[in-house]
Amino acid sequence: MSSESEGGLRRHRVGVIGGDGTGPEVVREALKVLDAAGEAEGFAIEAVPYDLGGERYLKTGETLPDSVLEELRTLNAILLGAVGHPDVKPGILERDLLLRIRFELDQYVNLRPVRLYPGVHSPVADLVPDDVDMVFVRENSEGLYTGAGGFHRRGTPEEVAVQESINTRRGVERCVEFAFGQAERPDRRGHVTLAHKTNVLTYAGDLWQRTFADVASGHPNVGTGYVHVDAACIYLLEEPGRFDVVVTDNMFGDILTDLAATVQGGMGVAAGANLNPDPGGVSMFEPIGGTAPDHTGRGTINPIAAIAAGGLMLETLGESAGAARVDAGIRLAVSKMPSMRAAQMGATTSEVGDMVAEGAVNA
Ligand code: IPM
Ligand code: MN
Repeated sequence: MSSESEGGLRRHRVGVIGGDGTGPEVVREALKVLDAAGEAEGFAIEAVPYDLGGERYLKTGETLPDSVLEELRTLNAILLGAVGHPDVKPGILERDLLLRIRFELDQYVNLRPVRLYPGVHSPVADLVPDDVDMVFVRENSEGLYTGAGGFHRRGTPEEVAVQESINTRRGVERCVEFAFGQAERPDRRGHVTLAHKTNVLTYAGDLWQRTFADVASGHPNVGTGYVHVDAACIYLLEEPGRFDVVVTDNMFGDILTDLAATVQGGMGVAAGANLNPDPGGVSMFEPIGGTAPDHTGRGTINPIAAIAAGGLMLETLGESAGAARVDAGIRLAVSKMPSMRAAQMGATTSEVGDMVAEGAVNA
């Protein structure tokens, strides 16, 4: 759904799922910063709150009612804090809420920019910001995540469990096409690496490799490379500068992007986007850190990742100048924070939000 303009003010209706744990706290700071950027740039975020997550599930048994899903389809974007609850069996909220939104809204790209901000400590010794500037394009709608498979004779000694990786030409192609589009952006370096495991996954890997080659031939100005996913883990730590855009499947991307998040300073900074880049597509933006139960309600959680997710959202909503303000605000705040680790930030969650907002206004 496209955004509306009213009295010169561009309005974006954003579904806000604070969710569980520290989710609502970090989303509050993200909205604070988005409002500040909007005031400076002439847009407004109209936040539409949705009560979803583990708390709601425990109270009502509902994960994502169909009526809510239909409403989400009408929004300009969705901002998600975190979902998860110690009393909810693992898998329920993941499958019936998070993955269901991704699949139903056909958010077929999981975009994870990975940058090391000046002043942020990376556990990889001696890395400097110039070494770490890459973006992961993870296929987000198929692979091992579709739930295809099943049990046979479950619970018996003859048990069989099958979990199939679904790879369609169309699904792979649209993801790889998106990756090449990223590489062509003026802020990128014009290179795409495919990460897979073609030496073992001879069917899925073959489809990915052929599709990658076909898409590459339509983008002669973009350089290409291939790495096996296990080697990609080594390069990520030893030579991350070799990566510009990395495209990979759903499961490999899940793992690689957590490793990459660690390289960039951890869950306090890492943001991701679940994108449906098609016209009218509704995308969802999230800090990738989870619910952090130890920090819930204490004002100690780092909101930078959620704020960065908000910045990514602005980019997608066509508010590039606003996104640049958010980025400037983040840079300013992290330069003043002694650590990205929750509780060692030298400021409370809301003070960090204030610093970023101020930096965004003055940018
Ligand atoms: C992520 C998360 C999800 C995933 C989980 C919570 C289902 O780890 O966004 O990377 O595996 O995709
Ligand atoms: Mn993950």
